[in-house]
Amino acid sequence: MPARLTIVGSINLDLVARTARLPRPGETVTDATFSQIPGGKGANQAVAAARLGAAVTMIGSVGDDDFARAALVELEAAGVDLSRLKRTAATTGVALITVDAAGENDIVVAPGANSELGPADVDLPDCDGVLCQLEIPLETVDHVAETAPGEFFLNAAPARGAVPAADLTIVNRFELEELTHRDGLIAVTHGAAGAILLDDGEEVARATPPPVQAVDGTAAGDAFTACLVVSLLEGLTREDALRRACAAGALAASRFGAQTSLPTAQEVDAVL
Ligand code: RIB
Repeated sequence: MPARLTIVGSINLDLVARTARLPRPGETVTDATFSQIPGGKGANQAVAAARLGAAVTMIGSVGDDDFARAALVELEAAGVDLSRLKRTAATTGVALITVDAAGENDIVVAPGANSELGPADVDLPDCDGVLCQLEIPLETVDHVAETAPGEFFLNAAPARGAVPAADLTIVNRFELEELTHRDGLIAVTHGAAGAILLDDGEEVARATPPPVQAVDGTAAGDAFTACLVVSLLEGLTREDALRRACAAGALAASRFGAQTSLPTAQEVDAVL
């Protein structure tokens, strides 16, 4: 039976410009190419988990607009249960993303409808675990942490101050500095250098990703997070789950875009 995962999080449409280099503050760069790609940390992790074989329910909020229709395409294609989505009069969330030739990016999020996902909108189904990020109201994340059936996983991104305790918290090295508590299990990503797992501050596992050509770092952290959570729910050891998550993140970084870059279970296991 597949792992049953519920994700309560953001759904965005990513408006992406690919340029030779990122602009400096106040500078205009031209000759970019433009793409619209489904994104949002919540939706990215839902699509990633579904491609990895989990049975996924997504709880989020979108507007009644063309952006919503474009933002939901990959969730629908991956078979994610969208029956608990909220529809609001607000504009669907948008991320303005610039990606340079080396795969570095800048991201600015206008949350729109994501800001309207309140605690009362969250109807959690029976499941093995619930995963949140920090692109929805914090009071909603707190509510999910208190009511989640099964395990509660938190990708504390983007960093936003005080967050609830979780069975597993996933952060990058910058978000770790902002974490208000360091107890329990924490996975810390270090980009191309891999990731470590801390248990009450003690390192308990470490993994490095396979070498890849960096194309776009967008959603690499989402691929890592989803793969770590799904692998743990499937019963893999901490070491094997971390190694698999690093491979998923590396594959996503080697491809362009958010949900366009997320690997399947077969693709991840082929590189291990
Ligand atoms: O983690 C990447 C995501 O962050 C993008 O898809 C963008 O929508 C922002 O939410």
